[in-house]
Amino acid sequence: MKKVDFLVIGSGIAGLSFALKAAKHGKVLIVTKSNEDESNTKYAQGGVAVVVDKDDSFEKHIEDTLIAGDGLCDPEIVEIVVKEGPQRIEEIIDYGINFDKNQTGVYDLAKEGGHSEHRVLHYKDVTGYEIESVLLKQIHKNENIEILTHYFCLELITQHHLGKHVDKSTEDINCYGIYAFNTELNDVEKILANVTILASGGAGHIYSSTTNPVIATGDGMAMVYRAKGKLRNMEFIQFHPTALYHPGEYPAFLISEAVRGFGGVLRRKNGDEFMYEYDKRGSLAPRDIVARAIDSEMKKSGEDFVYLDIRNRKKADILAHFPNIYAKCLSIGIDMTKDLIPVTPAAHYMCGGIMVDEYGRSSIKNLYACGECSSTGLHGANRLASNSLLEAPVFAHRIYLDAIEQFKSSVIPDDIPEWNDHGVTQSNEDILVTHNLRETQKLMSDYVGIVRSDFRLDRAMRRLYLLHQETEDFYKANKVSVKLCELRNVIQVAYVVIKSAMARKESRGLHYTTDYPSHAEQLTDTIF
Ligand code: SIN
Repeated sequence: MKKVDFLVIGSGIAGLSFALKAAKHGKVLIVTKSNEDESNTKYAQGGVAVVVDKDDSFEKHIEDTLIAGDGLCDPEIVEIVVKEGPQRIEEIIDYGINFDKNQTGVYDLAKEGGHSEHRVLHYKDVTGYEIESVLLKQIHKNENIEILTHYFCLELITQHHLGKHVDKSTEDINCYGIYAFNTELNDVEKILANVTILASGGAGHIYSSTTNPVIATGDGMAMVYRAKGKLRNMEFIQFHPTALYHPGEYPAFLISEAVRGFGGVLRRKNGDEFMYEYDKRGSLAPRDIVARAIDSEMKKSGEDFVYLDIRNRKKADILAHFPNIYAKCLSIGIDMTKDLIPVTPAAHYMCGGIMVDEYGRSSIKNLYACGECSSTGLHGANRLASNSLLEAPVFAHRIYLDAIEQFKSSVIPDDIPEWNDHGVTQSNEDILVTHNLRETQKLMSDYVGIVRSDFRLDRAMRRLYLLHQETEDFYKANKVSVKLCELRNVIQVAYVVIKSAMARKESRGLHYTTDYPSHAEQLTDTIF
């Protein structure tokens, strides 16, 4: 059993930024399910959207974020993130990140879909990798921070584990820590904490095609849902318009939106540029619009992809800006300086998540959420590109301000039991878990994708129900394993996504349904 002041679940930019600050006030334990650097952050290519250019302004960034969010952003949260962003990014720069500069020594700011200005700080096309490495170096230097890798968080500990009844209407649900599966010892451990911060990332793997690493199985959101906490706006799944089309590759390799910001144009197989037929902003329209346009083009042509064309830029410039994308494409026989790149949309970012307030506080006491697993109100119905790497440090700081007071007064009962797995056996049919995962991902891709309808959502729910029953029976009878618990989480998150999509009787942002193609008159959040 362990007991700490601050417990952080996840080791991406959100968790690490918080840990570095909180360590000044107490012991921090970071628990992460894979290697320490394995996170969605590591794979972020494009960068961090932040106002640093003299021609840019907070007003413009706020406006772009609100437009992309299609009416559903919380304007106060947008203002907080945009205005507090530059200071938080300064801190990250001070940790040692060298965002690219041009020959005159000023930041080389990229432009992405929906941005009215060049405002995306980047480190070549591996910005997330750079941020992750630099933050981890700082973490290793800090004696107040411990990291446990290959620990899979199973459940949040609440009054439920003390035998008390907890349901969605319970006013004061308390979080006392977690039960975590030590995958090396094959054992479940109890970790108690005064405050717990979920920074557990997204849920791309509820779909069969995603740009997310395999760890992105919605674990934090599923745990909060099971603990009777609130999730918000889970129907808003962002599909990145341009994942590399390379059948058999899983997860999909991302072709950064920065390539379109650099002049890349989407084309049909016959070479025609098509985006202006859908939006006056052409290939740099916000992602929901571009992904839907590509989806419609693929449906009309019967092809599995469209093309991205960056041949209009000089080879030296392409190599300087996109060395990673260039190398990847070349490894499969595509020279992006001469060839068209086949691209297709793939699940990329969860815009909804664990509902939190302006200090990252969830509906469960002593539990915060930060980064992609949270729903702060910034993204609304569609996230503006590269806003997430800004949101995470801004909210990590706000959570820090609240948590360093909160942890002093939180009380952990001393009768919290150990994990109970009496009566379960070791499964010898793990292949059933794999089958159920594939079925869940396929039904989500087939029926809950870019274009939805009541009929498709009903179909998805009926199929998911069966998979849910089978998986819960399997869970009750067998010892826990990471694969089994990930499957439960994927199914639970998929369930809330479908339920939220069913509840939204309108099309807005990333949620497009043929049954209700327009905005509803009333603005509503879906909360489950
Ligand atoms: C990209 O580089 O296109 C991804 C950036 C983001 O998702 O914000």
